[in-house]
Amino acid sequence: MSDYKNYIQDVLSKLSKCKKKNDLNILRSEYLGVNGIITKKFRKLKTLDLKDKKKLSIKINKIKKKILKLFFLKKKFLKEKIIQNLNKHKNIDLSLSSKEVNLGSMHIITYEINRIKNFFFKLGFEILFGPEIEDDYYNFDALNIKKNHPSRDSHDTFWFNKNILLRTQTSSMQIRTMEQRKPPVRVIVPGKVYRNDSSLTHSPMFHQVEGFIIDKKINFSNLKWIMSNFLLYFFKKKYKIRFRNSYFPFTTPSAEIDILNQTSNKWLEVLGCGMIHPQVLKNVHVSSKKYIGCAFGIGIERIIMLKYNISNIRSFFKNDLRLLKQFT
Ligand code: DAH
Repeated sequence: MSDYKNYIQDVLSKLSKCKKKNDLNILRSEYLGVNGIITKKFRKLKTLDLKDKKKLSIKINKIKKKILKLFFLKKKFLKEKIIQNLNKHKNIDLSLSSKEVNLGSMHIITYEINRIKNFFFKLGFEILFGPEIEDDYYNFDALNIKKNHPSRDSHDTFWFNKNILLRTQTSSMQIRTMEQRKPPVRVIVPGKVYRNDSSLTHSPMFHQVEGFIIDKKINFSNLKWIMSNFLLYFFKKKYKIRFRNSYFPFTTPSAEIDILNQTSNKWLEVLGCGMIHPQVLKNVHVSSKKYIGCAFGIGIERIIMLKYNISNIRSFFKNDLRLLKQFT
């Protein structure tokens, strides 16, 4: 029994020196850790015969229980002391309201691109990204836009040298993707594109979402269905739309989609689309006898401007909080 008293006395005197929670932890492992005094005692029991083992284990357990209780009480005491101290030194008023924090919001372009990604994701499209610095081959040649093709001029390309450029269209990812995988594929590519062009409706950098499907049974009706539903989803409004015959070197037939603005009674062009040109399929070694493709290209700023009635494309990039805050 004197053993018991000695142990407890010892623990009590050490506990009285504990000022912080960490001191308590150290003391705890001194007694109850893997190599703690009490743990070692338990380990020793193994070497004793049954009778002594029983006797001693009751004794050690009693000590252990008491020590645990003392630790618990000291811990509680320390905690209360911390709170008392806090209240003494600082005037804490829990009823005070917190500081006002100005939360930022997503830029409208990011927000709308995310919505667009969601729409196509639900239709089974993968979302890929490509390099903004491209070479002539991916941006033009492989898309059937030959060196002397007039549509090259309309792209007002920023060239680094004869071969390297800032991509003028995300369509280049049709080629990059198809070089790396086999059909069937269903992909959209959101991203920045660049053209040396600046006006109320044109900015040298803007965003596009390219989309394409290559599969065995794809036809123009599928494309029309996807595009019509996309526009309904995007504008959250049923516009009258029309598919107007058009020309893109990488699609045939090609179409542009217009929506009817009922206030001005004017048709407004919103995006381009078409069936992928067999030459483009050939360039990526896909047999146009077996597979067929459709593609579309959406100019993001343009459709956002129409949706929210924004007249100057520069509003997007001026970081004017008055515009940005409208979309929080
Ligand atoms: N790349 C075209 C542009 O930048 C947009 C486009 C039109 C993409 C028709 C397509 C398409 O995939 O089929 O003007």
